[in-house]
Amino acid sequence: MRGFAVRWSVLIRLIVILLLVDTSQGDPRTHIINVTCNQQLSNNAAIYIPNFVQLMANVSRQIQTFKSGTSSTGTGPDSSYGLAECYGDLSTEDCILCYAEARTILPSCFPNNGGRIFLDGCFMRTQNYSFFEEYAGAEDTVVCGNRKGSRVFRDSVRQAISDAVRDAPRSINYFARKQALSDSADDSTYVLADCWNTLDESSCTECLDSAFASILKCFPSSEGRALHTGCFLRYSNTNFLNPEPTGNNNGEKVSRVFTYFLTILLVMEDVRHSTFSNLIGSNDIKLLNMLNRSSLNFKYSTIVKATNAFDEANKLGQGGFGTVYKGLLPNHREIAVKRLFLNQRHRAGDFYNEVNIISSVDHKNLVKLVGFSCLGPESILIYEYLPNRSLNHFIFDAVRGKELNWGKRYDIIVGIAEGLAYLHENNKNRIIHRDIKAANILLDSRLNAKIADFGLARSFKQDKNHISTGIAGTLGYMAPEYIAYGKLSEKVDVYSYGVLLLEIVSGMPNRGIRTSEDTSNLISIAWENFKQGSMEELFDQNLMLNNGTNSKLKKEIERVIHIGLLCVQEVASLRPTMSMAIQMLSKNIDPLPSPANPPYMPDSTINTVNNHTSVPTVSYSSFIPR
Ligand SMILES: *[C@@H]1O[C@H](CO)[C@@H](O)[C@H](O)[C@H]1NC(C)=O
Ligand SMILES: *[C@@H]1O[C@H](CO)[C@@H](O)[C@H](O)[C@H]1NC(C)=O
Ligand SMILES: *[C@@H]1O[C@H](CO)[C@@H](O)[C@H](O)[C@H]1NC(C)=O
Ligand SMILES: *[C@@H]1O[C@H](CO)[C@@H](O)[C@H](O)[C@H]1NC(C)=O
Ligand SMILES: *[C@@H]1O[C@H](CO)[C@@H](O)[C@H](O)[C@H]1NC(C)=O
Ligand SMILES: *[C@@H]1O[C@H](CO)[C@@H](O)[C@H](O)[C@H]1NC(C)=O
Ligand SMILES: *[C@@H]1O[C@H](CO)[C@@H](O)[C@H](O)[C@H]1NC(C)=O
Repeated sequence: MRGFAVRWSVLIRLIVILLLVDTSQGDPRTHIINVTCNQQLSNNAAIYIPNFVQLMANVSRQIQTFKSGTSSTGTGPDSSYGLAECYGDLSTEDCILCYAEARTILPSCFPNNGGRIFLDGCFMRTQNYSFFEEYAGAEDTVVCGNRKGSRVFRDSVRQAISDAVRDAPRSINYFARKQALSDSADDSTYVLADCWNTLDESSCTECLDSAFASILKCFPSSEGRALHTGCFLRYSNTNFLNPEPTGNNNGEKVSRVFTYFLTILLVMEDVRHSTFSNLIGSNDIKLLNMLNRSSLNFKYSTIVKATNAFDEANKLGQGGFGTVYKGLLPNHREIAVKRLFLNQRHRAGDFYNEVNIISSVDHKNLVKLVGFSCLGPESILIYEYLPNRSLNHFIFDAVRGKELNWGKRYDIIVGIAEGLAYLHENNKNRIIHRDIKAANILLDSRLNAKIADFGLARSFKQDKNHISTGIAGTLGYMAPEYIAYGKLSEKVDVYSYGVLLLEIVSGMPNRGIRTSEDTSNLISIAWENFKQGSMEELFDQNLMLNNGTNSKLKKEIERVIHIGLLCVQEVASLRPTMSMAIQMLSKNIDPLPSPANPPYMPDSTINTVNNHTSVPTVSYSSFIPR
């Protein structure tokens, strides 16, 4: 019976997938037109975040039924009010997709206390006060296209807009669409007008009237959008409107109802209380992949239970991409729950990328992904729980450093190298981690190294160009070519690995960037000691080699310093690959080549650096409940 039940559910899924792909011809129009964040900070972040999440959970539920929703949580200065609405021509499925995009982007306004986002298919706004009846404000704005329309077009647009503005306030959802076709496709006109459902009819009329007045400023452009506090108005000479539901085609109607029914079945079966909040990129491939991987999918409620509602007491720490909590599943398995929801840079697309990457890799030196939850109000990753925290808690601590003798440290050094070599050299997905550092090396119960935080990882296909747009990473570990030019290759990780080797040997963190003046930088010290033949001065006191008896160990440690210096050479091509580094460690490559100078940063570059690295600064220090 069980087998049958399982197969039946698989069958339903397949049918749903096929129907979704085949029959949903709609476009969720997830293109973002404008995000405007409030200027004021939230009153108390620790209260704001859970309130926000609850707010969105509530709005999500309404969106699934009504394609719009409002809600509020909290009291006084900690209140949150939220409104989301899809424009009238979106199907329910498309609305969910558009809302999901808005829901993922708007939190980037945090730590400010709210904001608004206009997409081409939907609108969303949050505030700390009830704004549901507002329909005009200083933020009202227009966005015009570049191309010029013809004279004929302008006249027909004016007429169509005026019709839409007249009809929308009287229609059931405050929505109107108009189109005027012309012999020349360029002169056809398409118009959409939509007010938020929370307004009364006269407010809707006033909003659209003023939107009409401002959108005229776009003339003679062939495209215009008015983004007003209580409404959205758009015209274009390209047909952006979704096809109208065809009422008289019974066959199609039946198939749509069937699709809808099955979608509901699927939603009930799989996600029950949750929403498609992160089901972003609008294309069905992602939906497919997501469903395909549902064996890793956790219900949001399970995670909430496991972490005791993200209890502060269960907090393990904070990474660049979210807060990590310890959790306990009903089967007593311990997990680490990474809550990604309020991050400036982490969009749902990245989330899928991350899930796909992490679930496709499997290596003893990589932290294992247990699952994810992306259908609830937040994006969450679930990892195996590692009890002994991260390497930085040991090596940079005079007392705990004693728990890692040289033998253990050496195993960790080899383990990290093997994990990285696997990431770099696995055929399916060349992966560059981009943020190798002591804090991202976790230790299991036997103190084996496991590389964590693929938050910055991107799948790297062979033929993509290697210039990254947004620099991410941690300053002291970042390769010069990456800082200065955004040039990304595996050698960026090799550089970070080199820094890490020097840190593990010395027990000292490498701070900042090495400049010509600065002699206190770890790489400078290591390089000087290497040249003087006094590498022993770099050794961590905790390595207990003071009695000088163990020359074999000393040789081994010096060799690691040497390899570290090879890894941090200025010219990326001179740095070894990770598999070469492994061979160097195991003495398969012997003698070692001489390292060239490690890089200095000229002061001019440093200025560029500081300007560029404002991105990671934001992403690392922001949104953390204080
Ligand atoms: C959702 O929000 C609406 C409007 O604020 C409120 O009436 C309703 O009780 C909320 N539901 C839940 C479950 O919080
Ligand atoms: C909203 O937040 C701002 C800034 O924190 C505060 O000054 C204002 O009083 C808050 N409004 C309400 C209605 O609580
Ligand atoms: C977004 O809208 C605000 C006003 O609400 C305006 O000041 C800003 O320039 C707009 N941004 C873009 C990119 O259009
Ligand atoms: C599901 O995943 C498997 C393996 O990852 C893949 O071979 C298959 O094509 C996927 N199926 C769909 C429908 O995406
Ligand atoms: C590592 O974790 C294990 C299991 O929890 C524990 O017994 C051990 O004391 C920990 N070791 C260190 C050095 O913290
Ligand atoms: C001295 O070296 C021996 C042999 O390696 C080692 O067992 C011992 O712990 C060292 N003593 C100290 C005080 O470091
Ligand atoms: C970095 O930003 C500062 C302040 O905006 C500016 O004065 C400086 O010229 C910038 N440096 C570079 C190299 O662009």
